[in-house]
Amino acid sequence: MCGIVGYIGSNRAVPYLLEGLEKLEYRGYDSAGIATVEDGALRILKTKGRVSSLEALIASQHRSLATLGIGHTRWATHGKPNDVNAHPHESANGRFCVVHNGVIENYLPLKADLQAEGYVFRSETDTEVIAHLLEKNFDGDFVSTVRKTTAMLEGAYALCVLCRDFPDRIVCTRWGSPLVLGRCAEGSFIASDISALLAHTNDIFYLDGNEIALVTADGISFFDKNGAPTQKQSRRLELNISAAQKDGYDHFMLKEIMEQPKAVGDTIRGRITKEGKIAFEDFHLTDEEVQRLSRITVVACGSAYHAGAVGKYVIESLARLPVEIDIASEFRYRDPVLDDRTLVVLISQSGETADTLAALRLANERGAKTLCIVNVVSSSIANEGGSVIYTHAGPEIAVATTKAYAAQVSVLYLLAGYLAEKKGLLTGDAFAGYVRDLLALPDLIQKTLDSCRGQMEAFSQMFIPLEHAYFIGRSLDYACAMEASLKLKEISYIHSEAYAAGELKHGTISLIEKGTLVVALCACSAVFPKTLSNIKEVKARGARVLAVATNAENAALSEVDYKVLLPDVNPLFSVSLEVLPMQLLGYYTAKNRGCDIDKPRNLAKSVTVE
Ligand code: G6P
Repeated sequence: MCGIVGYIGSNRAVPYLLEGLEKLEYRGYDSAGIATVEDGALRILKTKGRVSSLEALIASQHRSLATLGIGHTRWATHGKPNDVNAHPHESANGRFCVVHNGVIENYLPLKADLQAEGYVFRSETDTEVIAHLLEKNFDGDFVSTVRKTTAMLEGAYALCVLCRDFPDRIVCTRWGSPLVLGRCAEGSFIASDISALLAHTNDIFYLDGNEIALVTADGISFFDKNGAPTQKQSRRLELNISAAQKDGYDHFMLKEIMEQPKAVGDTIRGRITKEGKIAFEDFHLTDEEVQRLSRITVVACGSAYHAGAVGKYVIESLARLPVEIDIASEFRYRDPVLDDRTLVVLISQSGETADTLAALRLANERGAKTLCIVNVVSSSIANEGGSVIYTHAGPEIAVATTKAYAAQVSVLYLLAGYLAEKKGLLTGDAFAGYVRDLLALPDLIQKTLDSCRGQMEAFSQMFIPLEHAYFIGRSLDYACAMEASLKLKEISYIHSEAYAAGELKHGTISLIEKGTLVVALCACSAVFPKTLSNIKEVKARGARVLAVATNAENAALSEVDYKVLLPDVNPLFSVSLEVLPMQLLGYYTAKNRGCDIDKPRNLAKSVTVE
């Protein structure tokens, strides 16, 4: 949600700003804008719609020679998506302009005070208060003015500020919303995330909360919230620009689906020691604390929550700890019972999801142990968690997650094995076998993708005209059904429901009629016979059934209309294979319905507001 870019260097800024904004389009937005400083004045161009509309607007104006500028893609929260509410926002006297990602929670009282002092507001946004506060707080020193201004703000913000009095610098800062910086021969770059920087540099500075960066063409200086200079090292990322490009695929989503063997392999391999143990770099619970744990609460949103549902089954089965799973926006407002024997596991690809971050802060406040499973290095959730396990999925651009979900599930398998071993419940050959099966997963994922891609493209034809579809399963298959249903609905806009197969008879079966399409997930061998009975129930009412099961169950599936067979796999890991045809089904259905697959309507990749 919202993307920020900034450039200052020896070249014209506008092409860099547009290139960066295009890279951030995936975050979700509905308007875009840029600002530069030219001939001692700020020049702002902004418009409702796509970056391509902004590009057309810029092309219709005189060519900018400015060598510094800032840009923004806005996902509307306060005020409609229109030209006026688009960022950048300018102070009344035209001295400052600002782009902002986040929400200023106290903007109404600040706005009322500013209006009482005569400041006139043009937009409906919370951001405009920042522009006027910069003007009001101006003391001749750019960094100090920004510092005084942010001290008055409550909420979350990443800010990039231009001042016409200082045409050789940009000042940026953040609290709760992300911002990264990079340097190379062309100059200095600022962005909401690394995908907008990778074309220019792999050496990334992660701005800490409340830290301020003074960015010039020649370098970047950092200051703490009191204005004292700080030393900061860049981090070298082992990624190249192809991580943020489609690399010949039609869509990022398909590229990311096909990258899952690598994402899972990279996530698992580094955690298996030479001695065959499971180890994590940043896991701060002692063996004694692990023994003392009385339960685990997994908290997350969207697909990360669905990954947590897989983790529940696997951890309970192996480590014999009760696991509850909770949606972050529910958890944070339900006064949860937590203590120092509870491990709260927060799962987030972006590491910036507002509700998950708030849930983490609540768990920390209440004295629970916290462990964050995060994909984006140095994100807010990673920084504030008691322990962190990174998923090494690489940048994920498509809004609908695939490889990050696969990596999250893999971390939960590792965690389950780790806890079970520490508790003496999985030892010797059984533990070694578990680790062997884990290491075999990337190859099985590859094999499954190879065998089912064409098949799912063909099956998607049946889904194209549908208005409704149903996904059923029990146990781990139910966890997978939730993710399968979300994948289909979020990108193809077909209504779908995931149902615990045993619960069908309590309501949903009344919706089954002749021709209804039911996807029956039945890769989980322990409950296969039970799910088979549910398949028979819906078949008896005229449903067409597409079943997904392992090769071992082939013979028992003689009555289903269509089937997808998976390689035989450790039953605890079945979701890692079963979800693959479901991701492909969502993808090809959306593609054949002509949907905007990587940027589905109304959705954002990183949900930084609650
Ligand atoms: C959005 C994304 C989903 C994601 C969810 C949680 O809804 O579209 O793909 O699962 O947010 O995001 P997180 O970054 O916390 O995993």
